[in-house]
Amino acid sequence: MSPSPVPETFSIDLIRDSRGAIGVLEESLIGFPIRRVYYLVELQAESQRGAHAHRDLEQVMIALSGSFAISLSDGKQWQETFMMSSPRIGLRVPPGYWRELGDFSAGAVCLVLASLPYDENDYIRDFSEFVHWKAGS
Ligand code: TYD
Repeated sequence: MSPSPVPETFSIDLIRDSRGAIGVLEESLIGFPIRRVYYLVELQAESQRGAHAHRDLEQVMIALSGSFAISLSDGKQWQETFMMSSPRIGLRVPPGYWRELGDFSAGAVCLVLASLPYDENDYIRDFSEFVHWKAGS
């Protein structure tokens, strides 16, 4: 059996010229078929987003502007906190990770690419339930 995927960052090339820069996200780079795209804007410094896990959904998160922190737990331990502060860095979040987003800078924009359509049944919004689910999976 292959090991479960772990969260990891990857680089996104920016194509620059005198007018600015273009970042390109193709499925070959993302690692899954992109079925949904959404973004977080109007974020407050003291806000916390996330605070849930997904059973099957894979995601890539990118700080298109500004910065924020992403904390991840696999139900046994918390990973290093990922400080997202560049549109040149993507973070792959595999299924089965609790995520919390916070420490938003002014004007922060978080782009999220998702492997599945929205489905509230894919969410686990209670941390104890998540830990229990992971222990049994
Ligand atoms: P949620 O995923 O809980 O936000 P976050 O993790 O960023 O704090 O979603 C917030 C609300 O938006 C919730 O009512 C569900 C709704 N929503 C959709 O309808 N479709 C979507 O694709 C997403 C991501 C959220």
